[in-house]
Parts: sequence; C-alpha cells; structure tokens
Amino acid sequence: MSETKNAIGKILFTEEQIKERAEELGKEITEAYRGEELVLIGTLKGAIIWMADIMKRIDLDTQIDFITASSYGGRTSTSGIVKITKDVELDLTDKHVLIVEDIVDSGVTLSRLIEYLKERNAKSVKICTLLDKPSRRITDVKPDYVGFEVEDLFIIGYGLDYDQKYRNLPYISYLEQ
Ligand code: IMP
Ligand code: MG
Repeated sequence: MSETKNAIGKILFTEEQIKERAEELGKEITEAYRGEELVLIGTLKGAIIWMADIMKRIDLDTQIDFITASSYGGRTSTSGIVKITKDVELDLTDKHVLIVEDIVDSGVTLSRLIEYLKERNAKSVKICTLLDKPSRRITDVKPDYVGFEVEDLFIIGYGLDYDQKYRNLPYISYLEQ
C-alpha cells in the first residue's frame, strides 16, 4: 500500500473539463494565427498531456518541438537559475512560436524561455499554459492563453509532478501539505 496516495487532494479539474477548455483555446489560437504557420513548443515533461490536447485542436499549418528547462532548487519552488537541458531542434527563424506550458508559477522559467526563443530569431513568442498561478508571480510574464487559474496550491496530475510522481493522474489535483 503506497502511503503517498493519501497525499492527493480533491479533484480541481476533470479530464473532461480540461478537454473542453482545450477545444475553446484551440479555436481561439486557430483564429488568432489564421493564415500563418505556427511552431508549438511543449515544455518537457509537465506539458506533454496538455500539448497533445491542444495541438489536435489547432487547425493551422503546424510544427511541433519540445524543450526542457530545468531550474535548480527545492522540490516545490523555483530557485531562479534556469538551464536548458534539451533544446529545440527546429529552425525557428521568422516563425511564430507558441510555448505550451503546464503551469506558470513565479514566471522565472518562462521569462528565460521567451528570451531564449527570441534569441533563436522567432518572429513572435506567445504562451499557452494549462494552469496559471498568478498569486506567485515574481516576473512580468503574462500567459496569452490560459486553461485555468489556480490558487496557491502545489498542483499535481495531468503531467504535473511532485518529485517526478503523479504525472499520470488523469485529472488535476493538489498535494495535501
Ligand atoms: P516557475 O518558473 O516558477 O513559473 O515554474 C516553473 C515550473 O515549475 C513549471 O513549469 C512547473 O513545471 C513547475 N511548477 C510550478 N508550480 C508547480 C506546481 O504547483 N506543481 C507542479 N509543478 C509546478
Ligand atoms: Mg514546466
């Protein structure tokens, strides 16, 4: 019997709610970039399920890629030092880029990623995040497309982990601390 099971809180968003939201955002994104090509860049590992949900609802000429940004520090907070440990392989020159993120918390990771992708000569860089935790923001990063806003809880499930666990939960919950 795994003791970590007891640490899962209530369900905040079900798979059905998330897919409905993906449908809405997919339409918005399709409208916003109508006639343009778009590169979707998913952030590993947290954004994989959300990436799969959102990409199939975007009706545009699209390429996908992934990036891994690791931040040093504790398990439940970001330290501020961000390192890219798996880079994008596509040429981003003059491409519209949409970063597909799991959650924007302090915004430190994302502000570094935006800066980096602009250095790669992207034409534009915008953000589509499954979750937004604005109460914790310490940067001026503002996601362009947000699935859901969440309170200051440690979120798990649907790709999001605590110590690399819980990513496989088919819903969004939080850790009882
Ligand atoms: P930020 O740089 O503080 O905005 O957050 C960086 C990354 O930390 C996010 O992309 C997530 O991968 C992770 N993270 C932040 N908050 C949470 C959370 O509540 N649960 C799980 N991962 C989180
Ligand atoms: Mg992330």
